[in-house]
Amino acid sequence: MRPTIRGALSQGFHALIVYRVFRWFYERGIPTQPVRFVVERCVEITTGISIPVMARVGPGLRIHHFGGIVFHPEVVVGADCTIYHGVTLGDMGVATGAPRIGDRVMIGAGAKILGPIEVGDDAKIGANAVVLTSVPEGGLAVGVPATIKSRPGFRHESYASRAQARSAERG
Ligand SMILES: CC(C)(COP(=O)(O)OP(=O)(O)OC[C@H]1O[C@@H](n2cnc3c(N)ncnc32)[C@H](O)[C@@H]1OP(=O)(O)O)[C@@H](O)C(=O)NCCC(=O)NCCS
Repeated sequence: MRPTIRGALSQGFHALIVYRVFRWFYERGIPTQPVRFVVERCVEITTGISIPVMARVGPGLRIHHFGGIVFHPEVVVGADCTIYHGVTLGDMGVATGAPRIGDRVMIGAGAKILGPIEVGDDAKIGANAVVLTSVPEGGLAVGVPATIKSRPGFRHESYASRAQARSAERG
């Protein structure tokens, strides 16, 4: 089957459409309950994917395969990320806050990213990793708990200086 048709029929695509529609209303302060509650439960049952409307998800997210994907409401996901099945982006089990994921991050199947940590742009998270500390731009995090491995050939910019520039932009 052609990739576009296959993508349009995928569970990830359906879950994202529902998220984006309700997010559109949420950003404009237009109430959608109790319809949203019912639709979100149906999406969870049929796709195994839970993305609350409070989570901030950038454009171009691709979700591959069925199920086991849970986002905490405080999660931020950048642009053009790829997520496989079984990924949790959450807190530490108590209200610790949730991760911020950069742009173009690949999160492998079964990975858990927990707590108020940052995953830099272009990072890769290996399958089944449990990530508890921040991952620099272009970093590779693998294992339980995850350790950071360098990626040969990846041009690392200074993560600290990029963070400084971002906070200067915000004023
Ligand atoms: C992490 C990943 C992206 C590979 O990235 P990469 O930059 O090509 O890294 P490499 O394969 O060169 O591996 C680098 C090191 O990490 C280790 N590693 C790679 N993936 C790992 C994983 N998931 N868990 C533990 N260690 C892992 C390698 O053994 C290697 O270790 P070494 O430096 O001690 O030799 C890939 O292994 C992965 O996990 N992809 C997820 C894909 C997925 O979820 N597919 C589901 C399809 S249905």
